[in-house]
Amino acid sequence: MTRHLKNDSEIFEVLKLETGRLQTNLELIASENFVSPAVLEAAGSILTNKYAEGYPGKRYYGGCEFVDMAEELARTRLKAIYNAEYVNVQPHSGSQANMAVFMTLLKPGDNFLGLSLAHGGHLTHGSLVNFSGQLYKPTGYTLNKETGLLDYDQIQTLANQGKPKLIIAGGSAYSRDWDYKRLREIADSVGAFLLCDMAHPAGLIAKGLLNSPLGYCHFVTSTTHKTLRGPRGGVILMGKDFENPFGITTPKGDRLKMMSELLDSAVMPGIQGGPLMHIIMAKAVAFGEVLQDSFGVYTKRVVANSRRLAASLTTLGYNIVSGGTDNHLMLIDLSNKNVTGKQAEIALGEAGITVNKNMVPYDSRSPFVTSGIRIGTPAVTTRGMNEGEMEAIAGFINDAIVNYTDSAKLSSVKSAVALFCKSFPLYADYLG
Ligand SMILES: Cc1ncc(COP(=O)(O)O)c(C=O)c1O
Repeated sequence: MTRHLKNDSEIFEVLKLETGRLQTNLELIASENFVSPAVLEAAGSILTNKYAEGYPGKRYYGGCEFVDMAEELARTRLKAIYNAEYVNVQPHSGSQANMAVFMTLLKPGDNFLGLSLAHGGHLTHGSLVNFSGQLYKPTGYTLNKETGLLDYDQIQTLANQGKPKLIIAGGSAYSRDWDYKRLREIADSVGAFLLCDMAHPAGLIAKGLLNSPLGYCHFVTSTTHKTLRGPRGGVILMGKDFENPFGITTPKGDRLKMMSELLDSAVMPGIQGGPLMHIIMAKAVAFGEVLQDSFGVYTKRVVANSRRLAASLTTLGYNIVSGGTDNHLMLIDLSNKNVTGKQAEIALGEAGITVNKNMVPYDSRSPFVTSGIRIGTPAVTTRGMNEGEMEAIAGFINDAIVNYTDSAKLSSVKSAVALFCKSFPLYADYLG
């Protein structure tokens, strides 16, 4: 796949270095994964050439008959995965999927509720440096200080007080499942729409390992590149129980059609131009993989690995926020280890372990320093690692954190990590 890039030595060098980094490091960033060779081929395919503004059968450009087939496959497969009635596979990213829903439902200045960024929410759930906090009025709900869990009573209270037009479920650093039924009751009690941004656990939800938001939330958004293990991108879905947005009394089929049209036009022409047809084809390939039984085996391993890693780190004296995990990630509060999230991220990086610093609930440090790190198992599980390897990884993490100022020790952990990774080949033929 990279044979022509060899002619551009500067670019080929980048590719060589990045391939080497992936092969010799432990990738524990919870939002990353390694796509299959088939997804990679589709993402690098000739469909990158095509302009196809519009939707299948209704394009603004000629010559779209075959890219239409790719988009229809992506849609059909995504619908089958989640039993959805409507999907849009064009958002270039998760942020754009969320923006399209905001544009459809809210007017500038309207208020909404989302999980606070400092408690594990995403930028697009109301951060003041993001469109969501600049154009609209967010209120952040928070995690319980003692348990590190969502506090549904607090969400109800905030909803009663602020009468938000929209409530957002989902986050980027929450290691437990969500009670969508309860959230729907809260939303209904104040006449709000309910959106679930399932970007992180989408792959686990796809295989029934976590609650599905589709039956309860009016709208669902996701990225396609985290636990779903597809190319970078976003999607929007509506589920089977879709009912009565805007208080419209037309028959259900008509309401769905109307909302579909509003969402589609919010994506294009609202916030995007031409869709990335090569990425849409890669999404179709990834969705085809998700539909297979082997993806169920994979997702079960992701969760088992995450649980085992959390348990091993707990044994080594680490505090996992909420005491553990139900999904693919965990948040480690390093306050008792006398090291900041930033220091830990740097030390782990030097030891060949990639993580990100992350605020913990009620953190006294800034987002640039933080008291925690977030780690996840989707990528190492794709590499073939199992629960036994999680014990070893916990040991590497501990060695790096305990010795975070000792560069000789960090470099010896790096060598041990590289040797360990050798048994789990990754993209072995990629540069061939
Ligand atoms: C919950 C959640 N929503 C949305 C996004 C945004 O995705 P993207 O980076 O594709 O814009 C992320 C990314 O990390 C996320 O965690």
